[in-house]
Amino acid sequence: MAKQKLINTSQELSNFPNHVALVMDGNGRWAKARGLPRVQGHHRGAERLRDIVKSCPELGIRYLTVFAFSTENWKRGQDEVSGLTNLFRQYMGSESRELIEKGVKINFIGNREAFDRSLVEQMNQLESATKSNEVLELTVAINYGGKSEIVDMVRKITRKAVEGKLNPDQLDEVLVDKFLSTSNLPDPDLIIRTSGETRLSNFFLWQAAYSELAFDQTLWPDFTVEHFKSHLIQYGIKERRFGSIT
Ligand code: FPP
Repeated sequence: MAKQKLINTSQELSNFPNHVALVMDGNGRWAKARGLPRVQGHHRGAERLRDIVKSCPELGIRYLTVFAFSTENWKRGQDEVSGLTNLFRQYMGSESRELIEKGVKINFIGNREAFDRSLVEQMNQLESATKSNEVLELTVAINYGGKSEIVDMVRKITRKAVEGKLNPDQLDEVLVDKFLSTSNLPDPDLIIRTSGETRLSNFFLWQAAYSELAFDQTLWPDFTVEHFKSHLIQYGIKERRFGSIT
């Protein structure tokens, strides 16, 4: 029986995505339904993220990206914004040793300069302490927005063109990729959004061109590794043709 399970698992693994991105939505509703402050939902959400990160290596996932804070999230109450930034700080402190030991490489994308200097230093240190790790690449999108990333890319390219360092006729998709914050990452194969919302909400606008999109009704604090696996299996049985007919 155990052997049968192993065979199934390895067959499933061969079709599993290489890069999965998560829009971890529903923390606020989860907390509200329990009469708790919204930040409690984010704390519970961080625990679920820990479980998912741990599960990735054995599921053959090489890249995991999580949307942790969008450029629009500043519009939330001050309590919630500081609750979230304290949570990032706490999480980076409590998890860093294990992430380093388990071979996880951490990247942050988004405009980190908007955060406290001490938080930015913590982010920089975690990136540098894990930069040679190769088991899993965990990218945390923090103060990230797809439109703002595209504006940055256009600005950088225009500047190079004005300086005479780039010929606009040489511009193609590969070159555009190099000016995005994800230049070192493959595009996501699968994007999962929880809580029943069926939007990208300004996440990975360029990178999602061929991603499989999966929407799950579960609120993020209830999203388990079993939910995660069921999306990977669904992904594995779908045929992705990248616009071709073969
Ligand atoms: C969206 O739920 C979730 C967020 C804005 C924050 C996500 C952050 C975590 C899961 C914390 C862990 C992350 C790290 C990197 C430590 P929502 O508040 O919009 O939920 P709602 O739609 O129900 O209001």
